Amino acid sequence: MINELSIITKILTIAFSLVVILIFAALVVPEKYLAERLLPGGCATITTDSYLPTHPPILKDLEGYKLYSRNCSPCHGVYNKIIGPALGQVAGRRDSLWITQWIQDNELLRSKDQIAQELYLEYNETQCLKNDFSKTDMSDLMTFLYEQNKVSK
Ligand code: HEC
Repeated sequence: MINELSIITKILTIAFSLVVILIFAALVVPEKYLAERLLPGGCATITTDSYLPTHPPILKDLEGYKLYSRNCSPCHGVYNKIIGPALGQVAGRRDSLWITQWIQDNELLRSKDQIAQELYLEYNETQCLKNDFSKTDMSDLMTFLYEQNKVSK
């Protein structure tokens, strides 16, 4: 009887010690290590790749971005075609004079420019808007398009 009691006491002591050790480990082991261990699928390593965005950033801090998002983004994604083509890389495929003339009056440009004529046909004769931006706004918008092109590649 005494023997049985002492065995039970020993088992309880060991079990209790294990619980204490586990609690201690959970508190002391660095959070990052635990997070890695707890990743689903038994994956124990976090690679920075898992956190890369699916496409490069959009330069939302530039002044020109506000103008872009207000006036252009309904039809032009930075990375995707909506009603018109994506404009994230437009500064890489056209020169600045062409883009400026297009933004001010694409219809006028079309009367004398082959690329503008082809675009118009490619987009089933849907037309880009004409804009009457101030010099400052135009310059901000162009800065956005040029800087955005650098990060869009
Ligand atoms: C109502 C929709 C609409 C809005 C708003 C709009 N666009 Fe467009 N845009 C188009 C369409 C459609 C085309 C291509 C067909 C065309 O216009 O001939 C185009 C083409 C362009 C192109 C030529 C792209 C290339 O690949 O060469 C540029 C540059 C452009 N737009 C700039 C702008 C800017 C900058 C704004 C905002 C200030 C703007 N667009 C607002 C519809 C729009």
